[in-house]
Amino acid sequence: MKIAIASDHAGYKTKELIKTFLKENNHSYQDFGADSEDSVDYPDYAFKVAEAVGRGEYERGILICGTGLGMCIAANKVKGIRAVACHNESTAEMSRQHNDANILCLGARVIEQDKMKGIIKVWLQTEFEGDPPEQPKSFGRAGRHQRRIDKISEHESL
Ligand code: RB5
Repeated sequence: MKIAIASDHAGYKTKELIKTFLKENNHSYQDFGADSEDSVDYPDYAFKVAEAVGRGEYERGILICGTGLGMCIAANKVKGIRAVACHNESTAEMSRQHNDANILCLGARVIEQDKMKGIIKVWLQTEFEGDPPEQPKSFGRAGRHQRRIDKISEHESL
């Protein structure tokens, strides 16, 4: 899977650890910064990753700041982005199954590193439970997740 990754200064060290973890798990990534623990503004990095994912250049994005929250707010301003801030494996799994989340935001100051690896692993391996291809969007319960996401996408164009 092709992943775009970035952090601010608060997430820098954690980003470096996550890169090693991604490599060990055979994922390819592009690092969009930051390049040190010098203070930067998280929206600058959130937008770089979100726009690259929004253009379809990467399948998923991972953003790390102190809490994961600022990155999430900023990334969700970009068209086509469904960014989520997850603090456990359960929400990471649901964010893929129900929301087809394409960016995962993590808080370096609030999540332990081992727990974070578990969250990333689950988030990367879980599939969206959208429409089965042979069924129309309105058909059956499987279609409800796609229908709800379609409503979000439609709202972006208003
Ligand atoms: C930086 O101090 C901190 O505000 C930032 O990393 C992030 O947590 C914002 O949401």
